[in-house]
Formats: sequence, C-alpha cells, structure tokens
Amino acid sequence: MTTECRAPELSIIVPTFKEVDNVRELVRRVEACMGDVAWEIIFVDDDSPDGTADEARAVGNEDTRVRCIQRIGRRGLSTACVEGMLASNADYFAVMDGDLQHDETLLPEMLRTIKAERLDAVVGSRYVDGGGIGDWNERRAFISRFSTQLGEKLLKVQLKDPMSGFFMITRETLNLSVRNLSGIGFKILLDIFASAERPLRFKELPFTFRTRQAGESKLDSTVAWEYVMMLLDKTVGRYVPVRFISFSLIGGLGVFVHMAVLTLMFEFFGAGFAAGQITATLVAMVFNFFLNNVLTYRDRRLRGIRMLWGLLSFMIACSVGAFANVGIAIYLFEMDTFWVLSAIAGVLVGAVWNYAITTVYTWNKPKGA
Ligand code: GDD
Ligand code: MN
Repeated sequence: MTTECRAPELSIIVPTFKEVDNVRELVRRVEACMGDVAWEIIFVDDDSPDGTADEARAVGNEDTRVRCIQRIGRRGLSTACVEGMLASNADYFAVMDGDLQHDETLLPEMLRTIKAERLDAVVGSRYVDGGGIGDWNERRAFISRFSTQLGEKLLKVQLKDPMSGFFMITRETLNLSVRNLSGIGFKILLDIFASAERPLRFKELPFTFRTRQAGESKLDSTVAWEYVMMLLDKTVGRYVPVRFISFSLIGGLGVFVHMAVLTLMFEFFGAGFAAGQITATLVAMVFNFFLNNVLTYRDRRLRGIRMLWGLLSFMIACSVGAFANVGIAIYLFEMDTFWVLSAIAGVLVGAVWNYAITTVYTWNKPKGA
C-alpha cells in the first residue's frame, strides 16, 4: 500500500454549531502549521442552520483530509466529539473548537509530547504558566475557576484546566473511557478523565485562549446546569439516572408554582378552590414541561409544532401519574400506613411514572440516534 493511502496519524475533531465563517480559515491555519504530520480534520456539525456542514464538505471537495459528520436532530458538544473520534482511523485524536479560539500551532508539539513521553493525554491549558484566558471578563474567569475546583474535588482529577476543550488523547485513552462517558454537556475532557478505568498519564501545555472573530459562543446559562448534572452523573449516577434527578427537582419547583397560583386565585382573587386547583395544576404542568424541555432534555429539545405535541403528551401522561399518585397514597393510608409515608409513596410512584412515560413518548430519541 502506498503511503498516500494510509490513514492519518492524527485526527483533529472539530465540533461545530453555526461556524460557517470559520471553517475554511481553520483548515487553512491547520494546514499552515502541521509540517510533516499526517493529519485529517473531522467536523462534527449538529445540522447548523447557517450551512456549516455544506461549507465543510465544500472544503473537503478540495482537500480529502477534511470530512464532515452531520448529525440531525441532535445537540451536544461532548457527544459530537466522541462520535468524531469513533469515525476515525487515527491513533491520536485532537479535539479543538471550530471558532479559532484555540491555538492550532500547539498541535504539533502536543503530538510530539504525547508520543515521546508515552502519555494518555496532552491538554492545552489556560491555567499553567504561560497560558491565559485572553480577554474574559471577571465574572466568567471566576466561574471558570470555581467550577474547575468543584470538578477537581468531586471527581479527583488533578488537571489544572479540566474544562479545556482543547486536548489530545490516544485511541487507547478513548477505549478506556468511551463506554462509561456521561456525554452530558460541554466538559468532554473532564468526562474522559473521570470515566477512564485507570488514572491517566497526562501533561498540560500552556496556551492563550483567543478572542472569537466570527459567530458567537454557545455557552449560555444552561451550561452551568449541565455541568452540575455531569458531576452528579459521575458521582451518584450509577444509582439513580441523572435525568430522573433533574426531572424530580423540576417537579419539586412545580409544587411551588402550583401553590403560588392557587394562593393567588383562592386567597386574593376569590376563585373557588376547585377552579384554583385545576388552574394551578395546568400552570404547573406547563411550567414543568418547558423547564424539562430546556434542562432535562436539552439534547432532545422539542421545538415548533413538535413542542406543542410534546406538551400535550406530557400533560396526558402527568394526569395519569397524578391518578396513580393519589390512588396509591389513599390505598396505603387505608391500609394503616403513616400518612406521611403514604403521601411520599404516592408522590414517588407518580414521579417515576411521569418520568418513564414522558422519556419514551414526549422526549423520545429521534430516529437513528
Ligand atoms: N456539534 C456541536 N454541537 N458543536 C457545538 C455545540 C453543539 O451542540 N455547541 C457548541 N459547539 C461547538 C462550537 O461551534 C465551537 O466550535 C465549540 O463547540 C465551542 O463552543 P463555543 O460556543 O465557542 O464555546 P466557548 O468558546 O464559550 O467555550 C470554550 O471554552 C470552554 C472553556 O471555558 C469551549 O472550548 C469549551 O469546550 C470549554 O470548556
Ligand atoms: Mn468559543
């Protein structure tokens, strides 16, 4: 076999969502700095409406080292990175943002280091000497440091910058963790380290986070929530599914909403109790649906007409859940169970029912996923 046909040694996995104006420039910059390394770039695009995937394929038409995986009906930075790696033949994988904020000129040194020192991972780090966070504001810098320490304490990972989205690992490292990954949210590196079957040998190389030129950041306030969910998944997740925890927390909030609406109507607006209770139940259901849609099922978030159908199926499922709840609680109470225990048992059965049914019918996985 001629060398030209061999698989590249390094796959650079680039997750993208709405990065159309950065694709070509990224490839140009990588090409310019890789020297004699045999590389390829795999863009993993979650069906960006701006045509990022088309652009990646257009570049791939001119250069076969550039490929694109286009995922439909899916969102998620972590799962995108993993699927990119799984689609590759290379022995080494780099993960790098598609918005030019990571310093691609570090890639050759990362590769040299991981090979020469036989490491499992080399991490581009903002928090070792010589690295930096660029022009981040105080608030984001603080949040970043705080969540870094939280992750370090809970997951016992010794990385200075476990939140980094810029790193290189070997195929063996992937194999050590891929079946245990939580796949939630943005923090794929921390997930890999926390999920590996043995401690990973690593080194952190400094780099400075650049300012974004085109497009905008997708890190929003729900990222913090996803991060907490990932930490929960890695700690208590083996006993209780983390989605169920999220679903129940939101259900708990729903109780407050319910009471607030009922109090308003019954106490202040003179509505009858039944009317107040019915309205409060409906409002709480709608509230729970929307919160679950953006938090618990962010990766399967329903939009447009599918969201309306989702709301309907959610409300039907939860109505049945409410009957089950009340039925079981009354039954237990009449069997002489302490009233608090009867109530808790009813609530639990209702919650598990609601969760199980809506996970299958309301937020069912899109076909093929
Ligand atoms: N496929 C896919 N799916 N890609 C995504 C998604 C998604 O749902 N969300 C974001 N991306 C892509 C973006 O297009 C970009 O290439 C990369 O993931 C990083 O997203 P940004 O929105 O630019 O994130 P950031 O710059 O705010 O955050 C970066 O810094 C963090 C460190 O604090 C990322 O590198 C994070 O991974 C890193 O943790
Ligand atoms: Mn970015």
